[in-house]
Amino acid sequence: MQAVRAAGYRVTVLGADLVGKEERATRRRKKRPGGRKKREMSTALLRGGLVGCGFFAQNHLHAWRDVAGAEIVAVCDLDLDKARTAASTWGIRGIYQELPAMLARESLDFVDVVTQPATHRALVEFVAQQRVPVICQKPMAFALEDARAMVAACAHAGVPFMVHENFRWQAPMRAVRDAAAGIGPLSFGRISWRIGHDIYANQPYLAQEPRLVIADMGVHLLDLARFFMGEMTRVYCQAVHSDPRVVGEDQATVMLRTVNGATCVVELSYFSQQAAELFPQTLVHLEGRDGSVSLGADFELSVRVRDAVSRTHVGAPAHSWSVPPFAAIQDSVFNIQQHWADSLREGRIPETSGADNLRTLALVDAAYESAARGTAIAIA
Ligand SMILES: NC(=O)c1ccc[n+]([C@@H]2O[C@H](COP(=O)([O-])OP(=O)(O)OC[C@H]3O[C@@H](n4cnc5c(N)ncnc54)[C@H](O)[C@@H]3O)[C@@H](O)[C@H]2O)c1
Repeated sequence: MQAVRAAGYRVTVLGADLVGKEERATRRRKKRPGGRKKREMSTALLRGGLVGCGFFAQNHLHAWRDVAGAEIVAVCDLDLDKARTAASTWGIRGIYQELPAMLARESLDFVDVVTQPATHRALVEFVAQQRVPVICQKPMAFALEDARAMVAACAHAGVPFMVHENFRWQAPMRAVRDAAAGIGPLSFGRISWRIGHDIYANQPYLAQEPRLVIADMGVHLLDLARFFMGEMTRVYCQAVHSDPRVVGEDQATVMLRTVNGATCVVELSYFSQQAAELFPQTLVHLEGRDGSVSLGADFELSVRVRDAVSRTHVGAPAHSWSVPPFAAIQDSVFNIQQHWADSLREGRIPETSGADNLRTLALVDAAYESAARGTAIAIA
């Protein structure tokens, strides 16, 4: 079944054929690793090319230096000065302005796309056409149709495709999920990001996006909702525009129903004036039959299982390049990139493969549709 957007108040995520194609592509690559030009990957370092040397790529580049089994051998940016600066900072030999030139001249095992969302589809499709595995930053695309085309292109070309959805790779989020395994079936979840930090200083383009906090941050928290509570069947959302400096919605509350009938509330705000600014922390509260798990401010994890209560600090390990208060986010960038290198080498489908991430993006899309229509949206 080809994935299609259903008419009316339903969002269809993807057909079994895309998942099957992704599995077959991974199996084929297991037999014949390497990109377009066959390379022996068993012992050699995986050779990556990075596209887009802007704000967030600095975290990717730091992390790639620490990832075991992979290295970045070429960088590319339309702004050649940024590519040159990245190359000289990291001792990278290949410097390019355009992706086609990079792929024509370099023998790559994967490409890491770290450009703004509107450019993702064209870049990922081009890499897939060259039969090179590809990672793409979140959100995979603004439009679900574009994301489906990207997943289909990679499946058609038989190349692994992962969305760089790093929030679930934060050590505190792994600790929450581990603890949640001990509280029985979940009935309620709340995942919250309410900040007032000036995100527009480093990412000025966000102020002009008609789809703002749900597409930019909701995509992370909705993925966490799936990570903790499983797949969703219904989405209701109210969105608010508060900051006169920005175009899109900067606050949203999303209520979801899981396949098991549990409720999850995702809170998003880029316009909160709190006594304690928590940027870039995500707060989580989960309740189950036998207890609860809460990730509070500054990574304090409180767990109750029946009569036993425990409190621990679950902050992420710092890297030599960590900058407060970003340590947990930066560690998650390292973790997901190590996961990609391991998955590629071992012929495994990464956790947040393109096909998997379509399910997260369908929740983003349904949240916008719900906010626009004022009604709940069913997820098929
Ligand atoms: N996971 C996170 O926590 C997180 C945080 C911030 C940003 N991001 C994501 O990272 C991505 C990049 O965001 P950013 O803030 O770094 O953007 P940015 O604008 O700072 O950097 C993007 C770079 O890509 C280059 N570029 C654009 N099109 C290109 C092309 N066709 N070929 C080569 N280079 C091209 C631009 O010149 C620019 O230097 C976005 O998808 C964003 O959502 C993720």
